[in-house]
Amino acid sequence: MLRSNIKSSRQFNLGQFIRFASSKSYDVVVIGGGPGGYVAAIKAAQLGFNTACIEKRGSLGGTCLNVGCIPSKALLNNSHLYHQIQHEAKSRGIDIAGDVKVNVENLQKAKQKAVTGLTSGVEMLLKKNKIDYLKGAGSFIDEHNINVKPLDGAEDYSVEAKNIIVATGSEVTPFPGIEIDEERIVSSTGILELSEVPNRLSIIGGGIIGLEMASVWSRLGAEVTIIEFQNAIGAGMDDEVAKQTQKLLAKQGLKFKLGTKVTKGVREGDVVKIEVENVKSGEKEELESDVLLVAIGRRPHTAGLNFENVGLEVDQKGRLVIDSNFRTKHEHIQVIGDVTFGPMLAHKAEEEGIAAAEIIKTGYGHVNYGNIPSVMYTHPEVAWVGANEQQLKEQGIKFKVGKFPFIANSRAKTNVDTDGFVKILADAETQRILGAHIIGPNAGEMIAEGGLALEYGASTEDVARTCHAHPTLSEAFKEAALATFDKPINF
Ligand code: FAD
Ligand code: NAI
Repeated sequence: MLRSNIKSSRQFNLGQFIRFASSKSYDVVVIGGGPGGYVAAIKAAQLGFNTACIEKRGSLGGTCLNVGCIPSKALLNNSHLYHQIQHEAKSRGIDIAGDVKVNVENLQKAKQKAVTGLTSGVEMLLKKNKIDYLKGAGSFIDEHNINVKPLDGAEDYSVEAKNIIVATGSEVTPFPGIEIDEERIVSSTGILELSEVPNRLSIIGGGIIGLEMASVWSRLGAEVTIIEFQNAIGAGMDDEVAKQTQKLLAKQGLKFKLGTKVTKGVREGDVVKIEVENVKSGEKEELESDVLLVAIGRRPHTAGLNFENVGLEVDQKGRLVIDSNFRTKHEHIQVIGDVTFGPMLAHKAEEEGIAAAEIIKTGYGHVNYGNIPSVMYTHPEVAWVGANEQQLKEQGIKFKVGKFPFIANSRAKTNVDTDGFVKILADAETQRILGAHIIGPNAGEMIAEGGLALEYGASTEDVARTCHAHPTLSEAFKEAALATFDKPINF
């Protein structure tokens, strides 16, 4: 329907005037259909704007739904279930007749079902909100006109936009000298697609992707070694939580080589040969692996966008430069999500998408960057929001620590899932909550309470005097809050 309204831009040789006069015109055009882009498009449509969303992947939902959050969580969930059945069923009173086996092909099918269900759900949402979903690659022609290169090979066409929101996301950071073939040397995309469990898996990077994927494949039987340049894992966790996380993951069989840099990684047949060097001592070592995962971070994705055509700037990290209203040097061109500043997280991109659309409508929109939760979906999960101890110390802020271990929480004990603790950091004078850090079962759900407390400027007493249901894991949150100014009851 839409295509019939749009004449091919290549049909016109009479100059730009005729070419643009033929374009379909929108109030808002969003480039990129990931969590930032599709949410921005929906919000813009809800606010009454005639909106289009251009996506080149062939499926909506971006990195997150297609090759990120969702497939990784499907594998994490099902590998955990397998591990529990294998190692815990008997002690929980469940007899299993015969061997428990993992079927990687079906595991992958289950993952794909989750992905397809959600990506097609987003497509339905765009339809419901009367947003034109333009399947193709978008690039700037000028400040108000976007070229669309359709996925189906049809001729390019252009659309005109009063406002443009760029949400083109991020891509894997390559490791210089190590060639990713997505078979033996893989990125986060390839590791989600393995068709069999490798005997040996090595991972460069002990950040969130490294640790989540290490958990999946180690539960399924791989011997996993994590090689991390820094002396700590967890890229940004509270130091104490990172140490405890490492201890618990090591107990599950993961091997860590911290303070170690990789100097070489080459595939030789079905084996990957890896050279590593201890950062401090310079001692070298050679490792062999069946699969090597490169997980050293992600970088902004701007390839093919032709942002130079409209003079948009990037910083040294390749991030598109914006002001606090997501605006570039052109007020009507905004940028959100992984392709610009801030943590590369789906929910951060979504918040920005909503705020950007609201700014177009009203001039106002807001994201609280001091209150963006992070969750690592290992077992136990690790979740945090607000400041950590090292940050508060650096800033010279006086604070109190309240901690409560899950071993003293009745629900965790009932579930025989007691590793970890809740740690709350509160201003020493006012008791205002400054940060919450949880390692434990369902930490990712529980951290929402910390986020709400931070948003409303709650004190630990506010939380401790709020009635929490019994028996729940969240009682540990209440008791940790209590522990910052009084004695916990159950420990
Ligand atoms: P993206 O999701 O990258 O979407 C951008 C979209 O724009 C892409 O679909 C791309 O095809 C499209 N695009 C790019 N250029 C153009 C163009 N010129 N024209 C048209 N379309 C274009 N975050 C979490 O919060 N929780 C998690 O559990 C989590 N797990 C992750 C697991 C993995 C393995 C990975 C890799 C990432 C994970 N992330 C997670 C991070 C999360 O995926 C990103 O932060 C999030 O997807 C960013 O959203 P975005 O909309 O900014 O960009
Ligand atoms: P990351 O930034 O979390 O971790 C990268 C790790 O690699 C760091 O610990 C870093 O010190 C290490 N590293 C960098 N260069 C190295 C080298 N040469 N040798 C050895 N180690 C090296 O990045 P990651 O894990 O790739 O994830 C990318 C992004 O995706 C993150 O920003 C993360 O927020 C997001 N993500 C979020 C998830 C979640 O919210 N659950 C899950 C997965 C990814």
